[in-house]
Amino acid sequence: MAGFDLYGAEEKKEVMEVLETGCLFRYNWEHLRDGKWKARELEGLAKNYTGAKHAHMVSSGSTAVTTALSAAGIGFGDEVIVTPFTYIATIEAILWQGALPVFADIDETLCLSAEGIEKVITDKTKGVLLVHMCGAAADMDALMPVIEKHNLTLVEDAGQALGAFHKGKSVGLFGKSGAFSFDFFKITTAGEGGLCITDDNKIYDYMHQVSDHGHDHIGDNRGMEQHPILGTNFRISELNAAVGLAQMRKIETIRNKNRKNKAYLKNLLSEIEGVEFRAKLDEEGDSATFLNFFMKDTKTAQKVMDQFAKDGVGGFNYWFTNMFHFINQWDHIKNLQTPFKMAIHHLGAPQDYNNLDLPKAQEVIGKLISLGIKASWTEEELKTFGAQMVASIKKAIK
Ligand SMILES: Cc1ncc(COP(=O)(O)O)c(C=O)c1O
Repeated sequence: MAGFDLYGAEEKKEVMEVLETGCLFRYNWEHLRDGKWKARELEGLAKNYTGAKHAHMVSSGSTAVTTALSAAGIGFGDEVIVTPFTYIATIEAILWQGALPVFADIDETLCLSAEGIEKVITDKTKGVLLVHMCGAAADMDALMPVIEKHNLTLVEDAGQALGAFHKGKSVGLFGKSGAFSFDFFKITTAGEGGLCITDDNKIYDYMHQVSDHGHDHIGDNRGMEQHPILGTNFRISELNAAVGLAQMRKIETIRNKNRKNKAYLKNLLSEIEGVEFRAKLDEEGDSATFLNFFMKDTKTAQKVMDQFAKDGVGGFNYWFTNMFHFINQWDHIKNLQTPFKMAIHHLGAPQDYNNLDLPKAQEVIGKLISLGIKASWTEEELKTFGAQMVASIKKAIK
C-alpha cells in the first residue's frame, strides 16, 4: 500500500545529502547546495513517470489540490461538482478557493458517475473536481464526453492515485491540472508533500508561482524576481523532497508488489459467492493500493466487518462509518463550521447539504469494504492473511 512499507537506507541517504549541504530550501542558494536539487530531481522523475509535460512539488496533497484549482482558474463563487466519497481535503480545497461544492452521485466505480454529474449541472457549474478514489482511475470513457459536452473545467484530485492509469494515460492528465499526495500513507511518501502535473505551459507557470508567493522563478537572484501574480507559501522543503525522491525511484517496485499481492487476494475473494468488485477497473492501470469489494448490502458488509474485528483480522476500511471519507460523517462541512467567514457563507450553499439526494452513494459505500494492500507482505504472511480473511467472511455470511 504505502511507500513507508519499503522505507529504508535510500531515503536516509538522500536526506543526509541535504543535511550535509545545509541547504534545506528548494530554490536558489547555488553556492551552498553542492549541485543537490532534490525537489527538482523529484519533479523530473514525476514527469517521466506520469508522462506529464510539467510537474511541480508542493507541501502536501491538500495544497496540491488547492494549487491545481487555482492554476485552472477556479475561484470565488464557482460551482464545482464533487464526490461525496473522498478524503475531506478535496472539499476543503474547493471551499478554501472561495468556490462552492456541488455534490453528485457516484457508482460502483467508487468515483463520480456520468449520470451523477449530468443530474446536478446548472448554468452556474464551472467545473468538476474529479477524485480517483482508492488507487485507480475513474471511468474516464464515460466521464469525458459529459465534461466536454458541457465545457466544464476538469481538475483531478488524484491524491490517492499516483501509479494509476486509464488505458495507459496517467490520472491527472485528463483535465487542466492534476494533484497527488505524498503524505505518510500514500504509495510514495515524502512524510508530507504533494505533486501537481499538467501538460499546459501557462497552467504550470501558475502552479509554481501561486505556490510560492507569485515568484516567477526566473534568474538566480530570488530577491529580485518578479511577482506576476499573487500567491502564498505551499513550498515543499528539500528534506521532504529528498525522501520523496528516494520513494519515487521505488514506485514501480512498490506498485508491482501491490499488484501481485492484490491479485492473490482478489482471486481468493472471487471464490466466495456474493462478493463483487469495483466496477470498470482498468486492471493494467491499477496502482493496487486497495482491494475494493462489495458485499450484498450494507447489513452484510457490517456483519463482515464485525467478524473481522472479532477474529482480529485487520487492515480493512469501512468508509460508510469512517470519520473522514464519506459525507455521512461530514457534519462540520454540511453546517459550514469555520472560525471565519468564507465565500460560501456570503454567497449561500448551492445545495441543501443536510438533505442531499445521493442514493447510489449510500448504497455503494454501505456495501463496500476496502483492504489496504501491503507491499511488504512476505508470501507466508500473505497466505496466512488470505486464509484468515476468507474464513471470517464465510463465517459472517453463513
Ligand atoms: C483524495 C485525496 N485528496 C487529497 C488528500 C490530501 O493529501 P495530504 O494528506 O497530503 O494533504 C488526500 C489524503 O488522503 C486524499 O485522499
